[in-house]
Amino acid sequence: MQIINLKTIDSVATHVADILIQRIHEFQPTEQKPFLVLGLPTGSTPIPVYQRLVNAFQEGIISFKHVVTFNMDEYVGLAPEHKQSYHYFMQEHLFQHIDIPQNQIYILNGMALDLETECTEYEKKIASFGGIDIQLGGIGENGHLAFNEPKTPFTSLTHVQQLTQNTIEVNSRFFDSLSDVPTQALTIGLQTIFNAKQIIIMATGNKKLNAVQTVSSGQLSINCPATLLNNHNNAIIVCDETAYPHN
Ligand code: PGA
Repeated sequence: MQIINLKTIDSVATHVADILIQRIHEFQPTEQKPFLVLGLPTGSTPIPVYQRLVNAFQEGIISFKHVVTFNMDEYVGLAPEHKQSYHYFMQEHLFQHIDIPQNQIYILNGMALDLETECTEYEKKIASFGGIDIQLGGIGENGHLAFNEPKTPFTSLTHVQQLTQNTIEVNSRFFDSLSDVPTQALTIGLQTIFNAKQIIIMATGNKKLNAVQTVSSGQLSINCPATLLNNHNNAIIVCDETAYPHN
């Protein structure tokens, strides 16, 4: 794992978008490997990255025809039309602006009647494409990756997750009131993230400082899920100077 230390939020977004644009641009589909498989996050951090991907598409630099996406997570109980659902977020910030075929987009269904089966099927679907090539993500103030809260086992696969009070409070900024925030989510697991061939995590803003410092200390601790990145041989955390001050 490597920390990439940049100055501004803009430079983080440009750095990450450039990696993705290059990989999408270079990708040559073959019979054995017809799709580049991306794992995608929601949240505030990836929005400027998605803007850059949309721009690159509109400028004719990249196409998403040979890209498959798996979103990291979704709230339990929110329909895709709900403005705070991650289905809605992804349409608004990325999918409706690009040429990805709808049947190459996978997002966990938080309205599924059988949530456990929904999770197992999602893992099988990821495996059917040969796994995730590039997993993009943000990081929580408490070090969570996707909705894998502290104490989630590193071996976890896609599962139903009870959200911590901290995450509910942090995410309540998007809802009318605290009581409107769902208390459960479906999330890919830490093992699912770790299985990705390449992991790119973004951290911007000083609220992420503690989490980034814990990871950079080199420890492995389920109290800070993102520390699992320390064991991965192709993972980066791209930070602005407030999330990881320059020495
Ligand atoms: P944020 O969320 O990008 O909105 O800060 C990141 C996360 O909680 O994983």
